[in-house]
Order: sequence, then structure tokens, then C-alpha cells
Amino acid sequence: MKHQDQVVLVTGAGQGMGETIVGHFANAGAKVAAVDINPEAVAETAKALNGDTTGNVIGIAANIADSESVRAAVATTVEKFGRLDVIINCAGVGSIDEFINTPDEHWDKVIGVNLKGTFLCCREAAKVMTEQGSGIIINVSSTAAMTGEGPSHYCASKAGVMGLTRSISRELAASGIRVNTIIPGPTNTPMMADIPDEWTQQMIAAIPLGRMGESEDIAKAASFLASDDSSFITGQNIAVNGGMSFI
Ligand SMILES: NC(=O)c1ccc[n+]([C@@H]2O[C@H](COP(=O)([O-])OP(=O)(O)OC[C@H]3O[C@@H](n4cnc5c(N)ncnc54)[C@H](O)[C@@H]3O)[C@@H](O)[C@H]2O)c1
Repeated sequence: MKHQDQVVLVTGAGQGMGETIVGHFANAGAKVAAVDINPEAVAETAKALNGDTTGNVIGIAANIADSESVRAAVATTVEKFGRLDVIINCAGVGSIDEFINTPDEHWDKVIGVNLKGTFLCCREAAKVMTEQGSGIIINVSSTAAMTGEGPSHYCASKAGVMGLTRSISRELAASGIRVNTIIPGPTNTPMMADIPDEWTQQMIAAIPLGRMGESEDIAKAASFLASDDSSFITGQNIAVNGGMSFI
């Protein structure tokens, strides 16, 4: 039980990587707050897991782009479980736009969820963790931010997450809080479901290990970063992408 009694909040927990991460931690003994903007999806995540674990998963509907909603989600977690040891900021959105035709609303939405939303979650979690004198923050970026192979708002938002991680890791280290980013490569989740098969084959051809990532690959990296095995690692942006290079 690697994460026995750790209190973990996961955003984007309604499907994809976030949902898998909730299961991974719950099955390793953690008490998990599963947060998503989609109330039905997050209720399903909690219900499915409480059937075969200790019942220590709660679903919370919240919009990470809204500061009051984030405040309430963190407060509910602390009310229910008494503390907050780990936050994993997985919620994210994409939008396919050609740069010169990018509507303002699409720019604001993608930056608002992926970058501002991650900032709001980090800030609210850090308040609790600073009081505790310990905590672990794990953000989620994207290989697209490094290669540029993605729309401008998405790449900018995910590059911003890496800068955010580096900055706040320095400021929060004195409070016993570690902050790192996972940089996934192309990963099999509902976000990738509508991508044409031809594009998928091109992506796989660019991955030295010869396959798409799976949500469980990301969950295992999150588990490492949330454990004492990584106790001297902070401020790092760690790629989990089958060896894709992006220098
Ligand atoms: N799948 C990939 O290939 C890939 C690659 C690199 C990075 N990522 C990143 O990994 C993370 C997880 O991706 P995924 O593939 O599991 O995506 P997904 O679309 O399958 O799931 C994302 C979840 O986030 C939730 N969400 C969206 N906006 C929200 C908001 N404002 N507040 C709360 N929840 C919200 C959605 O409802 C959904 O349940 C995202 O940040 C994504 O950008 C994904």
C-alpha cells in the first residue's frame, strides 16, 4: 500500500489520465478527492472505485478555471479527509485552431483552463500545504509544448505550466512542498479518440519505444513523484513519452 492514508486531490478525474490516476492511488491506499467539471463523470469515477476499495474516494464537481470553485473543492477535501498531501493537476482542454484564425474565446478558454486553472489549483493547495509544512504538487504539461506540434494556445498554455512549476518550486521548497511536472507524449485517452488513424500512426512512428502512452504510464510516474522515492526531486519537468526528443 504505497500511498496508504495519503490524501490526494486529482483534477480531470472524470475520464482519461485523471480517472486512471484516481484508481491507481485509491488501490494503493490513498484517500482521493476526484475533481472534474463534469459532475456525472466524476460521480461515476468515485462510485466505480468505492465498490472495490475502502470507500475512500469522493467525487467533487468543480471548474478549475474559477477560483471560487477551486477554493470550495480544496475546502471540501480538507473537511472530509483532514489534510491535503498531494494534488495532481490533470484537467486540461484542447482546441484545434489555425494560428491566424484563432478566435479570442478559444485562446481564453485553453489558457484559462490549462494555465490559469493549474495556477489556481496550485495556489489553493499550497495554502493548505504551507500550513501543514509539507505537500506535493504534480502538474501536467505536454510534449507538444516542447515540439510545437500543436495549436498555439495549447502549446503556450502547456509551456506556461512548466514555467509555473519551476517558479513555485523554488518559492515553496522552504515550506516542505515539492513541485514537479509530468510531460506526457501522445497517450491513449478520450482526448485522442477523434484523431484520424493516419495521424496516430505518424505519432507512433516518432516514438522510439514504438507505441502510444497509456494512462497507467502517467499514473506510475505520478506515483513516483508522490512518494518518498522522489524526495530530492523538485522543480523538474519530466517527460513520459517513450523517448521522443525535443531539443
Ligand atoms: N492524451 C494525450 O495524448 C495528452 C498528451 C499530453 C498531455 N496531455 C494532457 O494530459 C491531461 C489529461 O489529458 P487526457 O488525455 O486524460 O484528457 P481528457 O480529455 O480525456 O480528460 C480531461 C478531463 O478534464 C476535465 N476538465 C476539462 N476542463 C475542466 C475544468 N475547467 N475543470 C475541471 N475539469 C475539467 C474533463 O471533463 C475531462 O474529464 C490534460 O492536461 C492534457 O492536456 C494529454
